[in-house]
Amino acid sequence: MNRRYFINLFSLSLFVSCSPILFAATYAAKPKPKNNTSKSNNWVNVGTVEELDKTGQILKEKTPLGPVFIIGKSNSANLIAVNPTCTHLGCNVDWEAEENIFLCPCHASEFTTDGKVQNGPATEPLPTYEAKIEGTAVVVRRA
Ligand code: FES
Repeated sequence: MNRRYFINLFSLSLFVSCSPILFAATYAAKPKPKNNTSKSNNWVNVGTVEELDKTGQILKEKTPLGPVFIIGKSNSANLIAVNPTCTHLGCNVDWEAEENIFLCPCHASEFTTDGKVQNGPATEPLPTYEAKIEGTAVVVRRA
């Protein structure tokens, strides 16, 4: 066994032994979307009418249902409520009011107001919630 043959053999064995680790590290790091975690179908308070009317949106990262992003005003006919976690790789989507879509800042997936994918790379819709005003509170539950 000459030196060149030994180095080639060593490099090959190193690559073969590390490949599963690199593969696992690459794919295990993909964040899972934070979908609804609660089995309950109860209404959950996610903010106040005052907060909603101030900016036209409320983002609540932690609720018993998972992250909730609400768009609208207290006098809106329909409030839009989605889980803002992009189903591609887990970034939070932004609301683009002029285009009336949710846009992911990471890879530009677009979602309609009812969570459906308008443009990929995402292929799965955003989970949606029912939302309503209850007194001075904004509440949601699973759609
Ligand atoms: S994480 Fe949203 S498009 Fe990639």
